[in-house]
Amino acid sequence: MASNLDHLRIDPDRMLAAFNELSQIGATGDGGVDRPTFSEAHLAARKWFRDQIEKTGLEFHTDGAGNHSASLPCGPKASPTLLLGSHLDSVPKGGRFDGALGVMAAFEVLRTVKDAGLKLKVNLEAIDFTDEEGTLVGLLGSGALTGRIDRDLLLSPRGGRQSLEEGLRRAVLSDDSVLAAARQKNTLAGYLELHIEQGKRLERTGINIGIVSAIVGISSYRLTFTGRADHAGTTTMQDRLDASQGASAFILSAREIVIKEFPDCVVNIGKMELIPGAFNIIPARAELWLEFRGPNEKEFTRLDTALIECARNEARRFGLELKTDFLGKHSPTPMSAGPQKAFMDACDTLRLTHTPLVSGAGHDGQSFADICPVGMIFVPSVEGASHAPREFTEWEDCVNGANVLLQAALRFP
Ligand code: GLV
Ligand code: MN
Ligand code: MN
Repeated sequence: MASNLDHLRIDPDRMLAAFNELSQIGATGDGGVDRPTFSEAHLAARKWFRDQIEKTGLEFHTDGAGNHSASLPCGPKASPTLLLGSHLDSVPKGGRFDGALGVMAAFEVLRTVKDAGLKLKVNLEAIDFTDEEGTLVGLLGSGALTGRIDRDLLLSPRGGRQSLEEGLRRAVLSDDSVLAAARQKNTLAGYLELHIEQGKRLERTGINIGIVSAIVGISSYRLTFTGRADHAGTTTMQDRLDASQGASAFILSAREIVIKEFPDCVVNIGKMELIPGAFNIIPARAELWLEFRGPNEKEFTRLDTALIECARNEARRFGLELKTDFLGKHSPTPMSAGPQKAFMDACDTLRLTHTPLVSGAGHDGQSFADICPVGMIFVPSVEGASHAPREFTEWEDCVNGANVLLQAALRFP
């Protein structure tokens, strides 16, 4: 049914001005940004967002996990809050749209609703979640807010304990404050996010909006293959206990396993360190950062077993020891039916084409499964590029996404 709110739109120029200002913070000069969690640039972006919130007369809110948000009490007194948001941290030398677009769109939606003086059934909050990208922990802010972070995870985070300690200190936070950031479930009406697709499906099909049906599961491990340091020139090939050989064999076998047996999954070894690390010393140790992803829990669990088994076999084959440090898992997460329907209706109102999509990237929405209704939309990524400076989305598509977010929020719940 058409309503007068169907005609409400965000202000594209105001959103662009804010987005461009934000893109300057941590800019790498090639179109990208470098804002890993709690780096100087990330702290500056957070401060900039706080200033913007205060300038617009929205209420600024922060919590023990460092989440920053703007609140608009536009619902009845004591009504739950609909969160809209994403993240201002980036991967090292990443793109300027990943996360930032979602935060700027959420902020613009609140400004639009505020300017129109609307009363809704829920309060609105535009939130920037801490460490979505996993430089330190991964989904740290959204996980803390939804009570999913425990002390054990903070003691062995995937980015290393020392980095986490230093980062929290720089942001004047602590383990205790993070653990105290959980909100009561009944205060949350839902969570909606706009994000770039980071893949080529929308661009290829010419469809405006992807309505996310599920987000893949993600697991990470540090694998340590240990052999023996020896003279690289005088030790025969047969006598070596070369950690790099077992680690490399594992990397190639992991690829084969996924391609042959797990067509819906992916595996990535994003970092490999050889120790001691010299031309003329046989590597005694190889440390690998392993991450794998899959859209359904059963396959994902089977893949976990297959990869660890493969690492053991390759270690044995090269006479090495293997140590596996599990660094955390986010389960595959279906998106809720209500938000998907709200997004579809919003697209239809705006005359935008849409299609359901599974997200291969992780997102804060994963933290909200089983807590409150959660939904996400994607807008097209040019050439599917992401986690790289050439990441780009046409501004018209960004505006479409922000309008869909606005219209879905107006329809909520
Ligand atoms: C976050 O963008 C991730 O999927 O790693
Ligand atoms: Mn992101
Ligand atoms: Mn990302």
